[in-house]
Amino acid sequence: MSHFHLRDGVTHCEDVPLPTIAQAVGTPVFVYSANAMRSQAKALRAALAPLGDPLVAYAVKANPNIAVLTALAAEGLGADVVSGGEYRRARAAGVAPDKIVFSGVGKTAAEMRLALEGGLCQFNLESFPEAEMLSQVAQSVGRTAPVAFRINPDVDAGSHAKISTGAAHNKFGIPIDETAAACRALQSLPGLELMGLAVHIGSQLTRLAPLEAAIAKLGGMIAQLRSEGHRIHTADLGGGLGVQYDPSSQPPPSVEDYGAMVTRLTRGWNVRLIFEPGRLIVGNSGVLLTEVIRIKSGPRSPFVIVDAAMNDLLRPSLYDAWHEFGAVAPRGGEMVADVVGPVCESGDVFALARRLDRVQAGDLMLIHTAGAYAAAMAGTYNSRALAPEVLVDGGEWAVVRPRRGDEAYLADEDVPPWLKRAE
Ligand code: LLP
Repeated sequence: MSHFHLRDGVTHCEDVPLPTIAQAVGTPVFVYSANAMRSQAKALRAALAPLGDPLVAYAVKANPNIAVLTALAAEGLGADVVSGGEYRRARAAGVAPDKIVFSGVGKTAAEMRLALEGGLCQFNLESFPEAEMLSQVAQSVGRTAPVAFRINPDVDAGSHAKISTGAAHNKFGIPIDETAAACRALQSLPGLELMGLAVHIGSQLTRLAPLEAAIAKLGGMIAQLRSEGHRIHTADLGGGLGVQYDPSSQPPPSVEDYGAMVTRLTRGWNVRLIFEPGRLIVGNSGVLLTEVIRIKSGPRSPFVIVDAAMNDLLRPSLYDAWHEFGAVAPRGGEMVADVVGPVCESGDVFALARRLDRVQAGDLMLIHTAGAYAAAMAGTYNSRALAPEVLVDGGEWAVVRPRRGDEAYLADEDVPPWLKRAE
């Protein structure tokens, strides 16, 4: 069941009419449904239940809002973090240290120290030089660092090139054929304890076959390492399962099919499995609410100019991503239009020649599937304030990140004294 639905002709998020939020907070604004996230988390955990007690570490990068993290932590999810900032957020949201996995190809010594002192489940290491740095940090703080090597399985994820990570030419992971040597060499580094292996081949995956290939390679490597005398306790299968953006396209594999595939492939592994889902949990739990500023005629079709822009939702400009549009209170009828934002770039386009609900200036629209990699990737280009975020929970709602005024942004900056003198 979608948690964004029409009731009496007006789109609601759960029990809250979206115009109520738009009036109180202004637009553009991200609106998240707490119950949509919870039900995704529950569905995934149910599909993974045959695997014993896996750690589901939500990929914080998808939506790092502290209210979102708090709701997900209450569902029992851990956190997959890739920076000191994400580690701090996860802890602030109440995620227990032993449910935190630290991923990322460029962890700094300061970030390693932060997580070692605060505690974590494991570091997923992506190169041997990274292991050497962590060994030094671990010795300097007098702790043993639990580590896994992320392998690069050289698998084509079949996703957009900018979000595929498992091919040999990508910067991620240790080449699979160098993994055994890296694990051997790790034994001579003090302060590190090998926990297991990890793999993550990309995001918005719409087929299970590439995941299956990567997991099979990981299984082969676990067997090889064990035959060489290593103890392997964990296997981190990453995230990546896609969600549906375009309602007319083939739906991505279900969590049930994913769970069944993983159960079949990992039978007899005798490890604790770790998962790092991001988009799957929050993608369809959020929308970007925007107002039509005006409609301008165009040579092919009219331009619907909305008050959200590429700085709020970068995905269409960056990945040519599809996001579905709807009128918050459909008037009936349809139109074909280019939906664009106010930013001064030709790439500030959300949709080209798109058939959508007929709208006019002043109407509210929603941009669907804006719960993941949307607010998280927003910026302030064109000196536009970050869009605020609202969390809805049943009939209740709250602003979980307010809109900052232009004055607040200006107050962040300084004019150096010599320029002031020149005035
Ligand atoms: N684990 C690792 C190591 C990752 O790099 C990622 C995502 C995830 C887990 C979570 O993947 P998910 O389950 O969300 O697919 N900005 C892009 C997506 C970038 C994904 C980066 N890594 C987008 O908007 O499509």
